[in-house]
Amino acid sequence: MPRLPGIRLWIWDGEFCGSIGFRWQPGTEELPPHVLGHIGYAVIPSKRNRGYATRALSEILPYARAEGLRYVELTTDLDNVQSQRTITANGGILVEQFVKAVNYGSTPGLRYRITL
Ligand SMILES: CC(C)(COP(=O)(O)OP(=O)(O)OC[C@H]1O[C@@H](n2cnc3c(N)ncnc32)[C@H](O)[C@@H]1OP(=O)(O)O)[C@@H](O)C(=O)NCCC(=O)NCCS
Repeated sequence: MPRLPGIRLWIWDGEFCGSIGFRWQPGTEELPPHVLGHIGYAVIPSKRNRGYATRALSEILPYARAEGLRYVELTTDLDNVQSQRTITANGGILVEQFVKAVNYGSTPGLRYRITL
């Protein structure tokens, strides 16, 4: 697969807390089937529940706007309430429940959209 353009930023409070990434295809909101969403993030367990993922997501959205995207899509597992709240706190709207591709285990996921 050709590599998509992307950025990855560290989440930092004086120490490493995690990272957040944004990937896209130039000129379109479409993503190839093997890419589950435009934005992915993780916060290390000892730094969770401090609002860091919520803030990191809000701070990476301007990069997507600057690329000219009208919206970004993010996906989560059904039981990942923390990630779902991170997305809805940033204006994300649930679009659909879907079944992930075979290489992701054919398990159900939730697709959210944030209008930019
Ligand atoms: C998802 C993840 C990034 C959230 O990071 P975080 O910095 O702890 O998130 P925040 O503190 O910004 O917000 C977490 C929200 O989940 C809520 N939350 C935390 N634990 C919860 C639980 N067990 N049940 C329900 N809600 C919970 C918090 O209250 C907060 O919501 P609120 O702002 O409405 O109160 C982090 O849990 C993580 O790295 N998980 C593993 C990787 C992962 O799942 N990445 C996302 C893949 S889609």
